[in-house]
Amino acid sequence: MVQVARLLGRPTPQLDRAELIQCVRQLLDRRQQFLALSRERASPLYVLDTAALLDRARQFLQAFAGVLPKVGVFYAVKCNNHPLLVSALARNGFGLDVSSGLELALALDCDARQIVFSGPGKTDNELEMAVQHAGHVTVLLDSFAELDKLERQAAKFNVRVRAGIRVTTVESGIWRKFGIPLDQLAAFFTRARSCRYVHLCGIQFHLSWNLNARAHVRFITRLGGVLREFKARRRERIEFIDIGGGYWPSQGEWLQAEATPLGKLRQALGRPTDNDHRHYRLPAASITEFAEQIAAALQQHLPGGMNYTVYAEPGRWLCHDAMHILLRVLDRKSESLVITDGGINAVGWERYEHDYFPVINLSRPGLEERECLVAGSLCTPHDIWGYNYFGDDIQPGDVLLVPFQGAYTYSLKQEFIKPLPRSVELASAAAEVLPQDALVAGTGEV
Ligand SMILES: Cc1ncc(COP(=O)(O)O)c(C=O)c1O
Repeated sequence: MVQVARLLGRPTPQLDRAELIQCVRQLLDRRQQFLALSRERASPLYVLDTAALLDRARQFLQAFAGVLPKVGVFYAVKCNNHPLLVSALARNGFGLDVSSGLELALALDCDARQIVFSGPGKTDNELEMAVQHAGHVTVLLDSFAELDKLERQAAKFNVRVRAGIRVTTVESGIWRKFGIPLDQLAAFFTRARSCRYVHLCGIQFHLSWNLNARAHVRFITRLGGVLREFKARRRERIEFIDIGGGYWPSQGEWLQAEATPLGKLRQALGRPTDNDHRHYRLPAASITEFAEQIAAALQQHLPGGMNYTVYAEPGRWLCHDAMHILLRVLDRKSESLVITDGGINAVGWERYEHDYFPVINLSRPGLEERECLVAGSLCTPHDIWGYNYFGDDIQPGDVLLVPFQGAYTYSLKQEFIKPLPRSVELASAAAEVLPQDALVAGTGEV
């Protein structure tokens, strides 16, 4: 038993009840606004909150700009590619990080002025599109072969293209598919010297799913070791270091029992966690802490005399609370089982078996959380929104809110069995946002 406990590490802390109630209370304060949308439109609905998105983007930018001399924020479109969200950011001067021709076309449609194009396996057509918009696009190369491919495309149009190279952060297992190993970075810069059209001037890395800046700091330490070996003249050519995304929102990761180490062990032992409806929380650092620690690591580990802009590619941190889902109860099969009109095809995966979000009954508001399987109407038992709801009761016709569904849901939605929700924007005064240009002014970039 002691050994099992050691294997599991420290038990996952439970989500603080007072914090949860406070969060539900704040959402209930906007109840009439949500109910009006549900009355006016069909159900289910994606409810988009561009003001919240812009507010987050501004906070993110200010956190990093407060500790670094030059910063560029590029929203990772893959996180939520809803055109309303993407265009709100582009209109307000934020850059976009795209990972395919489809996303690049969307970014160009939204008139984004600064775009980084990353991702493995870019096709000739995709690179051609980047070349044709070279005034706005920096290509983040993924391999030596891609460097040659981009050089050929750029030569065809006689256009000089700005580029960076992605370096691998984990050199074994599935993550090694991204970028080149750090020990090939010098050779890559040497190879790029012979390119007439590709202007290699940056380095990108990305670390996924971080509750704090430790992984960033570790990788920056390694990168610094490699850059110290570069000749000073080569280092001077580096105009940007792109530190990628992966910053967890500061409310932390909210989990169902099944997603905790103990829950996983119970599953493996054939003792399912269906009767454990407690909620758990992995704490996350604030964005200020992320920014301070990353800036300190860059300052400490990268060689002096370099003059680069730090690019960041946040996805989740910006759009976690920029979209909510509204559902209606269609059927009440018992006190502890209801079926809703929306299925998890709206989010594209079995999210709520692992991740916890409060399901809030807006029609019968209450701060007590009651046990009830809130299922969707797809023909799969995994179509679950949650195991509880907040409210005084639950009946057919009730409107349910599943909040904070901005990240990795809409862009993963599936045409599966039932129609997808319609989208509607939450009306509010557009947040006044400091244009990003004000903070990267003078860099003359992109
Ligand atoms: C290259 C790159 N940048 C940025 C992101 C955004 O990450 P997050 O949404 O966790 O901030 C991702 C996500 O997979 C990514 O692959």
